Amino acid sequence: MLYDLLVIGSGIAGLRAAIEGSQRGLRVALLSKGAFMRSNSSLACGGINAALGNAEPDSPLVHLEDTLRGGDGLALKEAAQILCQEAPAEIGFLASIGVAFDQQDERIAQRAFGGMGKKRTCHIGDKTGGAITQTLFRVIMQKYPIHWIKERMLLSLLVHEGVISGITALNRQTSEIELLGAKAVVLASGGYGGIYHEHHTNTPEITGDGQAAALRAGLRLSNMEFVQFHPTTLPRTHALISEAARGEGGILINESGERFIDELLTRDKLARKIAKELSEGRRVFLDVRHLGEALLERKLPSLLKIAMSEGINPIKEPIPIIPSVHYSMGGIECDLGGATAIKGLYVAGEVACNLVHGANRLGGNSLLESAVFGRIAGENAAKFAQSHDYHDFRLEPIAKDTNLVEHILGGENRYNFQSIRKTLGKTLYEKAGIFRTQEGLHGALDYVSYLKRIWIGCHCIHKQKEYNSELQAILELRNMLEVSEAMLLSALAREESRGAHYREDFPEKDEKLFGTPSFVKKLESGRLYMEFEPKEGAKGWLNRLKKRLTR
Ligand code: FUM
Repeated sequence: MLYDLLVIGSGIAGLRAAIEGSQRGLRVALLSKGAFMRSNSSLACGGINAALGNAEPDSPLVHLEDTLRGGDGLALKEAAQILCQEAPAEIGFLASIGVAFDQQDERIAQRAFGGMGKKRTCHIGDKTGGAITQTLFRVIMQKYPIHWIKERMLLSLLVHEGVISGITALNRQTSEIELLGAKAVVLASGGYGGIYHEHHTNTPEITGDGQAAALRAGLRLSNMEFVQFHPTTLPRTHALISEAARGEGGILINESGERFIDELLTRDKLARKIAKELSEGRRVFLDVRHLGEALLERKLPSLLKIAMSEGINPIKEPIPIIPSVHYSMGGIECDLGGATAIKGLYVAGEVACNLVHGANRLGGNSLLESAVFGRIAGENAAKFAQSHDYHDFRLEPIAKDTNLVEHILGGENRYNFQSIRKTLGKTLYEKAGIFRTQEGLHGALDYVSYLKRIWIGCHCIHKQKEYNSELQAILELRNMLEVSEAMLLSALAREESRGAHYREDFPEKDEKLFGTPSFVKKLESGRLYMEFEPKEGAKGWLNRLKKRLTR
């Protein structure tokens, strides 16, 4: 199949990018790993930030200052400026296509969120991401002739002479390798929270497929050590209890019923404080009883439903919580227009890293990032597609992927890959979690290296080609291992504490040595190589970013 623009990922970044391409009359395909509405965007509950000033005086400049402060010295001002300045117009666009934001006094209502001095988070109850995704989806179905392709897992980015020519994907229904050619590609496949298997709030499909494919195609991953833990999730299922609850006045209490922290601190600080309480054997609760049943039903219906499904009645009792992996600040290196080092390949949303969030993202800034940078990446990719023809294919990657799938489907299985995924998640959660040490990170890295060596002995037990979930699990495991290694190498090398990355053995921030982003790339030998751009190099890096933007 040949398209002008191929968008990978059906979250908000992908949907926004696809609209941009289709509006320009391009032949656009949108590819999703699972069903279309199953994305992290649709799970994000609490809201989307914009300095509308509806609840109190506010401005994009104050939003920018909060975002930079939240990023703990590593957020790129130029990226955050775009995010905050574009936010009000983006909310206007979403409202204009029918996103029914909650209203107060005939204006969009805004609630408090962590790390921000102002009530700036626009919302639809506590189902904001789902409501935005549904509206974008409906508008696309009504207005744009986009070709929807579901249940395809990205395997390889096809690159020839530094230019994208398409991708290969696994058809989950048939186990066939499919080739999708395109003049330009937008990769918006989400983060890598899923490497912390069963200890995260993400959809199960999120296994770092985009980041791993990018590494294999020679791209650099940036700031992979920065993994955000959401402070409030349910202990057994890790289901998200939205920050909206604290924004509406919910409090955090310890076992003695005492409030022990400012609930609207940034997530990195809150997660650490809660994890400390838990490690000392004291349980922590989110208490929303005082908000009253009527407010809970009106503004936090998802919270009620999720807690009730676990047998907890938030109207009558406090909700026990623990922090869980929620968001990836790191991702594929790109410029402010979403361009990567592969011509014609653009990235947006959680898979991308333009440093907008630095070392720690503010709640409510990710839906915004997906919308704003998804649109920008879509615009730039569309322009690229309009000014370039199809690029030549190399056949080797297609043959390689076909052989790989045949290898996994054939052969005698030697390892329990399902339990490997579980132990990988548990190991990362314990050793590359909220608190990290050199010893723990080394231990995790040794374990990942061992798993990488034995992965080749993982084969499907059931050999059927229709919906072979084992095949998918083994292919995902390969990606999870590569991304885990990139994350661990970066976490080991960053010998300081900053944002979401806290090293017990290096508890201070070291601006001089580590005030720059980290990068991981794959060498020809197949080994991963990690580097920081030196201080003077960082300037060069920034200039390169800007140059690419004005190209
Ligand atoms: O808690 C939440 O509602 C999550 C929001 C976000 O990650 O932006």
